[in-house]
Amino acid sequence: MRIVSGIQPTGEIHIGNYLGAIKQWISLQEENECIFFIADLHALTVPYNPKELQDKIIEKLVCYVAAGINPEKSIIFVQSKVKEHAELCWLLNTLCPVGELTRMTQYKDKSKKFKDNINAGLLDYPVLMAADILLYKGQAVPVGKDQEQHVELTRTIARKFNQTFGQTFEEPKELFPKSGAKIMSLTDPKKKMSKSDDPKSYISLFDSPENITKKIMSAETDSGKEVIYNVTKKPGISNLLTIYSLLADKPIKDIEKEFKSKGYGDFKKSLAKVLIDYLEPFRRKQKELQTRDVYVKEILEKGASRAKTIAETTMQEVNEKMGLI
Ligand code: ADP
Ligand code: TRP
Repeated sequence: MRIVSGIQPTGEIHIGNYLGAIKQWISLQEENECIFFIADLHALTVPYNPKELQDKIIEKLVCYVAAGINPEKSIIFVQSKVKEHAELCWLLNTLCPVGELTRMTQYKDKSKKFKDNINAGLLDYPVLMAADILLYKGQAVPVGKDQEQHVELTRTIARKFNQTFGQTFEEPKELFPKSGAKIMSLTDPKKKMSKSDDPKSYISLFDSPENITKKIMSAETDSGKEVIYNVTKKPGISNLLTIYSLLADKPIKDIEKEFKSKGYGDFKKSLAKVLIDYLEPFRRKQKELQTRDVYVKEILEKGASRAKTIAETTMQEVNEKMGLI
C-alpha cells in the first residue's frame, strides 16, 4: 500500500502524536511504501514566528528519525519543497464546496482560538491536506482521531474528481491505532493532548526525566483512589492507564490488578518510570542527530527529490484531465 501522513512543525511532538500517528508509521514502513512529511504550509495558517520556523522543521525531522522512521525505507521531506502540493491544492479547491469547509470541527475550533486571524488558509487547510494525500495517490493515512473528518473530505474530493474528469484517484482510508487514537491532555482529560497547549498538559518525546516525573505526578486525576479504567467516571486515570498500557505493552486489566491495593501516587510513579525508560533511546538518538547537520539535510533533499518524481507524474495526469495541457 502507498501510505501518506504528515505532522505540522509547530510545537513539540508529544506522546499523543507518537501513539496516534508516528508509532503506526514505524510499523507500516516495514511492508509499505511510506511518504512522511513535515507540513510547514499547514503551519502558516495560525500565528507563527518566521525566524523560528526553519529550526522547528529540522527539529521535527530529527524527531521522526529518533523515534524510528527509517530514511532508507520511507520518503521523508518538507511539504513546501515539493511545489506540486500547493499546485494540486488550487486545482482541488475548484471541486470543493465551501460549505464542506465551514463545517470542519478543526476550522471551527481554530477560528474560535485565533479570532483575530481567521484567514482563508485556515478554511482551506483540509483541501491542502487532500492535495498532500492525492498527489501521491495515497491509499491509507495513519493519523489520530482528530483528523478523521479531513480524510473523509479527501475521499469526497477524490470521488468528485473521478466523476468529473474520469477515474484517477483511489479513495484513501484513515488508519487509527486500536488504542491511543486520542490521548487526552494531562491537565484537562476532557480535551485532547495538543502541541499548542501549555507544556504541562503533554509529555514531549524529549522531555527530561525530571520533567516527565513532575508532569505525571501533577497530572489531573479523579476523585476516589482506585486505579480503574472508566472513561466517563475517571477520565484522568483512564487516560494515564491507556498511556501506561501502550508503552509497557501490558493489557489495562493487568495494570489495574497490579495497582489494586495501591493508590494514585504509586501508579503515577510507576507510569513516570515507564515513560522515562521508553523515551530514553529517543533522547539519546536526538542528541546524536543534533550533531549531524549534513546527514539531516541530506535526508530531506533525497526525500524531496523522491517525492517530486511521484508528484510530477500525478500533476501531469491531473493537468491533462482538467484540460490544462
Ligand atoms: P497537535 O494537534 O498536537 O498540534 P498535529 O495536529 O500536528 O498535532 O497532529 C499530528 C498527528 O498526531 C496527527 O495524525 C494527529 O491526528 C495526531 N494527534 C494529535 N494529537 C493527538 C492526540 N492527543 N492523540 C492521538 N493522536 C494525536
Ligand atoms: N492536518 C494534519 C494534522 O494537523 C497534518 C497533515 C497535513 C496531514 N497534511 C496531511 C496528515 C496529510 C495526514 C495526511 O495533524
